[in-house]
Formats: sequence, structure tokens, C-alpha cells
Amino acid sequence: MTKRIGVLTSGGDCAGLNAAIRAITHHATETYGWQVIGIRKGTTGLINRPLEYQDLTVGFCDSALLRSGGTTLGSTNKDNPFSFPNPDGTRTDRSQDFIEGYNQLKLDALIGIGGDGSQHILRRLAEHDGINLVAIPKTIDNDLGHTEAAIGYHTAVEVATEALDRLQPTAASHQRVMVLEVMGRDAGHIALSAGVAGGADVILIPEIPYTLEHICNKITSLAKKGRTFALVIVAEAVKKENGEIATLTKDEGRPRYGGIGQYLGEKIQKITGAETRVTTLGHVQRGGQPCAWDRIIASAFGVSAVDLIAAGKFDRMVAWQNRQVVDVPIADAIARYQAVERSDIMIKTAQGLGIYVGEL
Ligand code: F6P
Repeated sequence: MTKRIGVLTSGGDCAGLNAAIRAITHHATETYGWQVIGIRKGTTGLINRPLEYQDLTVGFCDSALLRSGGTTLGSTNKDNPFSFPNPDGTRTDRSQDFIEGYNQLKLDALIGIGGDGSQHILRRLAEHDGINLVAIPKTIDNDLGHTEAAIGYHTAVEVATEALDRLQPTAASHQRVMVLEVMGRDAGHIALSAGVAGGADVILIPEIPYTLEHICNKITSLAKKGRTFALVIVAEAVKKENGEIATLTKDEGRPRYGGIGQYLGEKIQKITGAETRVTTLGHVQRGGQPCAWDRIIASAFGVSAVDLIAAGKFDRMVAWQNRQVVDVPIADAIARYQAVERSDIMIKTAQGLGIYVGEL
């Protein structure tokens, strides 16, 4: 029986989304003979009138798409259908418009590619009125439960590692301390992995407290051993030593992180006397070509998500576990926030390498 399936990307973009869209389109059209409809701008494409969507074909989803950054469908991390922003600043529940849009397009199922916030919203919409939902995890923060990897994470780690690769020679040339602030929201996965891969001397993540005294001791002890530079990587949600959030802005009540690198850089320079410079990597971690690993995961997730629809298994999220793609209830994935655990092998590795990772 031919089916019409929708696909949308929701939340902050990342590298690898197009690889998933391509895999879904290939497998659904070539293996099953279904039609694939790409919904534009996340959930907003089904809320707006006229509906915003495009037919996805194998011709459109070629290997140029596989290797391209961003999402060809567009995305949003603002337009919650249950509290949709109006031009005058007020908000309206537009969830019914979304459901009508789904029905107008005569969709049999919907694949939602998103992080925890998006999956939460999509699941609520699906509960509403029998939308057959399958989820694919994406987030550079890698904080979704029950999956070892989400699309976008490995590329973000590659970019942060490359930043350390580039900072190290200039740090050595000028005998400087370099502080690199990376994304990750409340989880320290990017900082921890890139810090190990990029030879950081200090790795600071939100999950583990630190003291400025111990950061500076680490830097001065390196100098005593003849090291002329030091690399510090810090996750954006790390707090100041007094527990304050280092942020300048708020987005709809939520802090938009940014500033902890600058704070630490100034303190380090003052305490150690070492000339210190700060780099904030920002959205560079989300853009650009996906690394091979993200293309691989995205392709595997796309194929398996289509197979879930064929098997009539809904309200499930594909997940990466022990070198396999498995599927788990979406509810379980969003209920379990995956922060860095003290038992994480990367913590043990960092300690073994003599990196200061905070007060363990
Ligand atoms: O959740 C992904 C993420 O890139 C976070 O790491 C970061 O804090 C946030 O999104 C940035 O959001 P925005 O694109 O709205 O600035």
C-alpha cells in the first residue's frame, strides 16, 4: 500500500540533518514506493496557510545534499505550536492548525528530526489526534537519553577539536593561555570530548564544580615544567565561581549562554599573570559539512525510521546503542536527560592525562 510520509526538522539546526532527509527519501521511495513530503520550517510549515511543504524526490536528495550543512527544509526553535507567537507579541495555541495541516496533506506518518524540546512538542501534538510519529534524535549537545549519539554531535566535536588545533600553535608562539568556550547547553559532552581530542590542559563542564585556584595552579605548574602555553576549554553553561550564570541575554525566559570564557580568561590572567585570550566558538559548531560519522548515523537513522513506519511502530525514536540502531519509546528518551556522568570514560581518560576537570 503506498503511503505518504512527512518529514520535518525542528529546533536548532546542526550538521547531518540533510543526510537524514536524503536517507529517508531514498529508502521510502525506492524500497517501499512511498511519497515523501518535506515540511518546511519545522512544525510551522503545517501551521501556516498556505501550508509550506515540498515533495522530496531521489533526484533532489542526491549526494550533494548528503554532504551539505544546515537543513534544506528549514527549522525553528521558537514557534511552539501550543504557544505560537503572533505578530503583535501575543501567543495563541495553534496545535489544531498543525493537526489540520497534517490531515490536509493526507499524511500516513510523520518523521520528526529533533532534540528533546522538539520531541516533547511533537509527541504532545501526536497524542492529540492520532498522528503516527517516529522520531530521529539530533542535537549537538548529545543530551538525549537512550542514545549514545545524536545527529550533529560528532561534527560539533570535530569543529571544537579543530579550534584547539588552531589555537595551540598561536598560543605557543605568544606564550599565552587560550580559553575556548564551546556550546552544549547544560551538558558538557562537547567540551569534554574535544578537550581530550585537542590536548586541553583544563576542561570545565557544567556537571563538575571547579575552583579558580586549581585552574591557576594547573597553569602555573605547567609553566614551572617549561610549558609556555596552556589550553582551557569551557562549556557555555559552566557557572562563575560564585554560582552565577554567565550570560548576557535571555530568550523567552531561558538564558542564552555565553560569557563564561571571557569571565575565566580575565580571572586567569589576573591570578597567574599569563597573557590570556578568549575564543567563543558559537554557531560555527552547528554549521558546515557534516563529518563522516554524522553522515553515517544520520543515514542509518533515516533508513531505520522508515522501516519503523513500514512495521507500524509509532511513538518510537531510533537510537544508537552498542553499534546498532534500536528503537525506544520517545517518552523514555525525553524523560532521561543525558548529562556527563562521573563514570564517563572521558572523565577517567582526562584525569589519566593529567587534565584538570574540576573537583571530582
Ligand atoms: O541546543 C543546541 C544549541 O546549539 C546549544 O548548544 C546552544 O546553547 C543553543 O542551541 C543556541 O541556540 P540559538 O541558535 O537559539 O542561539
